[in-house]
Amino acid sequence: MRKIAVGLLGLGNVGSGVVKLLADNADSIRERLGGASVEIRRILVRETEKQRLVDVDRKLITKSASSILDDPEISIVVELIGGEEKARQLVLDAIAHGKHVVTANKALLAAHGDELFAAAEKKNVDLYYEASVGGGVPIIRALREGLASDRITEVIGIVNGTSNFLLTKMTDEPQPFEQILAEAQRLGYAEADSSLDVDGWDAAHKLCVLVPLCFGISIHTKDVLVEGLRGIEPIDFRYAERFGFVIKPLVIAKDHGDSLEARVHPTLIPRRFMLASVNDVYNAVYVSSHALGQSMYYGRGAGMMPTAVAVVSDLLEVSRNLLSSSVGGPPTGRVRTPKRIRAAGELESRYYLRINVLDQPGVLAQLAGLLGEQGISISEMVQEGQRTDGKSACVVMTTHIAREENMQAALMRINLLPAVVAPTRLLRIFDRPGENATRGGKTA
Ligand SMILES: NC(=O)c1ccc[n+]([C@@H]2O[C@H](COP(=O)([O-])OP(=O)(O)OC[C@H]3O[C@@H](n4cnc5c(N)ncnc54)[C@H](OP(=O)(O)O)[C@@H]3O)[C@@H](O)[C@H]2O)c1
Repeated sequence: MRKIAVGLLGLGNVGSGVVKLLADNADSIRERLGGASVEIRRILVRETEKQRLVDVDRKLITKSASSILDDPEISIVVELIGGEEKARQLVLDAIAHGKHVVTANKALLAAHGDELFAAAEKKNVDLYYEASVGGGVPIIRALREGLASDRITEVIGIVNGTSNFLLTKMTDEPQPFEQILAEAQRLGYAEADSSLDVDGWDAAHKLCVLVPLCFGISIHTKDVLVEGLRGIEPIDFRYAERFGFVIKPLVIAKDHGDSLEARVHPTLIPRRFMLASVNDVYNAVYVSSHALGQSMYYGRGAGMMPTAVAVVSDLLEVSRNLLSSSVGGPPTGRVRTPKRIRAAGELESRYYLRINVLDQPGVLAQLAGLLGEQGISISEMVQEGQRTDGKSACVVMTTHIAREENMQAALMRINLLPAVVAPTRLLRIFDRPGENATRGGKTA
């Protein structure tokens, strides 16, 4: 019986899930591999004496990377240490040793994807990364295989479970953001250092993994407009609801033919849009493509076992490739057609503005005037009662589609008005779902 030996880099949350899933499902895995088995031969960690989340033979645990990289029996290396530089070095070394690699590391792929995929292609080894976006949701496979025959025009996702949990909580319970974040940290839904999640960078890394698969080109986080959740107040959820929206942490990438836009920000989306009902820690990716139209992929985006499902499924695929001598596969399709990435100022959107002003005559006309000078027209506007100080009021408006640079220019001047008493809160609105849902005509 053939054994496929695996070197595991990391035995934290996901690494432990992988050990457990391989043990729990050993029989079905053997069946799926026609009798071959997948066996972990060595596990790299930082601290060998640490208490582990799963029972594991202590003899497998090592601090020596070379005991994995130099072992000719090990054909697949699974990178689950996280971070960038050390992971990059280990993955490159594994590839250089002719080993196939499975990783869950979106930060690594976002920063060094081109280098790693080029190295893998050159050495004719597999590099799989299903768990890097959407945890257990098989979105990478769907894009790489299921939609390979179609042309994708737009991808919109909720890909950071922590942010989605925080915004869902704030929708349900009108409490300040910092309070909700502290509660999420207490419950284990947010890391003690939650800045990667809350400030949008984890989602931006994932968008950088999705874009090459969708559009054939590489992007980097510097190409992406990234805004996090800080500054959103309970009142924004109330107004969003009043205008028929919910607030969700979206990643958006859209192909404009000659150029591509990529952005990450909390977004007002219509209550009827499918992504509006993706709540708590769940993830979903909504894809628009020419022939299929709209499709959505939904499930648990993180956690020990959901993420392990994606990692072990990659392990099985690489194992099958090994058994059928078809490793290396066709090129990844990166840099199919180089495309210009739109600068932040070029992006277009509808906007939500919450402006705290002195409650005095003429202020609304000033606001409308400054927006009008930039060619921005107001769609809806409400001015709600006086604040407790008795002098200021809250003006909330939505606009029609405007260009980001025009909105930022107007915003700068609005914030300088003597009647404006606090920085204006700007959120973007996405309300174009299903715009090409019926393209293609006939229904079956
Ligand atoms: N957690 C999730 O739900 C999730 C979901 C999707 C993707 N991911 C990705 O999966 C990867 C792993 O995440 P995780 O949550 O499992 O992380 P984790 O719990 O922090 O585990 C990291 C593991 O890597 C080991 N490690 C870290 N740096 C090392 C180094 N320099 N040398 C040797 N070993 C090192 C640690 O060793 P010690 O145990 O000895 O400290 C630990 O076992 C990350 O790339 C993450 O982004 C995670």
